[in-house]
Amino acid sequence: FIVKLMSILRILGIETSCDETAISLIEVDEAGAHVRVLGNAVHSQIDVHASYGGVFPTLAKREHQRNLVPVLEKVLRQADMLERMNRASATPEKIEAAEAILSREPELWESFKATVPVIARPAIDFISVTIGPGLEPALWVGINFARALATVWDMPVVPCNHMEGHILAALIQEKAGTFELLERSISYPAISLLISGGHTQIVLVESIDALRGGIYRIVGETRDDAVGECFDKIARTLGLAYPGGPKISRLAALARKAGIESPEPLPRPMMESGDIDFSFSGLKTAVLYLTRRLSGASGAPLDEAAMRGIARETEDAITDVLVAKMRKAVERYAVATLIIGGGVIANSHIREALEKLANECSLSIFLPQIDHSTDNGLMIALAGYFGRTKAVSADTTLAAAGTLALGLRAAAEPAAAQKAEKTP
Ligand code: KG4
Ligand code: ZN
Repeated sequence: FIVKLMSILRILGIETSCDETAISLIEVDEAGAHVRVLGNAVHSQIDVHASYGGVFPTLAKREHQRNLVPVLEKVLRQADMLERMNRASATPEKIEAAEAILSREPELWESFKATVPVIARPAIDFISVTIGPGLEPALWVGINFARALATVWDMPVVPCNHMEGHILAALIQEKAGTFELLERSISYPAISLLISGGHTQIVLVESIDALRGGIYRIVGETRDDAVGECFDKIARTLGLAYPGGPKISRLAALARKAGIESPEPLPRPMMESGDIDFSFSGLKTAVLYLTRRLSGASGAPLDEAAMRGIARETEDAITDVLVAKMRKAVERYAVATLIIGGGVIANSHIREALEKLANECSLSIFLPQIDHSTDNGLMIALAGYFGRTKAVSADTTLAAAGTLALGLRAAAEPAAAQKAEKTP
């Protein structure tokens, strides 16, 4: 199924891999140089999951079912494309086919049925949707919603990788109300650091081409917890609600301002391991033991200064490890460009440290805007643009792929690079 390749393209991106129900509608110009965001909305489920200390997959599925249609309406309204009709805008056959696709999402079907058939088909070219990685029950809702919409609106669907979306979110830069697409100004290969709630990876970006898409190779990753997960688990130990990353970051900033230090230093796991893999579970455990020691047999909550000090040291430990590994990756692959993505790059301390690294090593660095760092629909609309040659018709079955990889894991490091690493 081929979509138009070289014309103005309007793309609806749908993201439901975790706890954000996010949709964005973009327009890419014919030259592939500029992106206009016509509509963009995120419905966060943070409040729903907070009491569980993490994201609860069946709850996420239910919430996506409830929120997808209202989020879609919001986005179409922003784009001035929400036009109500007096009669059905699709044939009964198409509506029936959409019902079959949504048979496992009854609650979503109810709101879909009441809304989608009575609005005019918006002038968009295709729908892109995250098929993985992520929580499978949550992914399925988005995939089936995308297919049902594409059925009623008679347009193709582009399956997307969430992590590629995070990379691409860094490659747009706002200029006078529109975004410039920057993939052509990168010197390849580039190194990407992806830091989110589920992933911590260093990716060699061999190329990103507007027609052929991206070619990626995973060259380093975490052996246990992801960075975001580490932030969230440490926050929980400190009695802070999910998601803990932003809360730790706030406490850390207060500690720096007041000159408060941690009662004890924390480890920087695998910092000297010589490779570019990560491990964060030891840091999490260290905070757990330190907290227990400080609060004593009574289990009393930590005082505010200890909390702030530990938050600061946590952020410093994570930052030190990320910077050290990226420095190593830059040397190993002799790259000139860094591309950073994933929710954790909303953290300003980590942003500044990576910018400093780029400065020191004369590298160019691409960072997403803060509000494009955590999960959003825009990144999936972009992934749809770069992946549009993979478009399929709406009746093609697409399966959620919880552990979908971005590229092959490198089997062995290049010999020359290994040698270079041993030279002091
Ligand atoms: O990419 P994302 O929105 O979702 C996944 O794909 O996982 O990343 C969410 C993660 C959470 O673990 C959250 O705590 C973390 O990003 N995060 C932060 C900050 N903002 C979000 N971590 C540290 N500092 C922040 N300011
Ligand atoms: Zn994400």
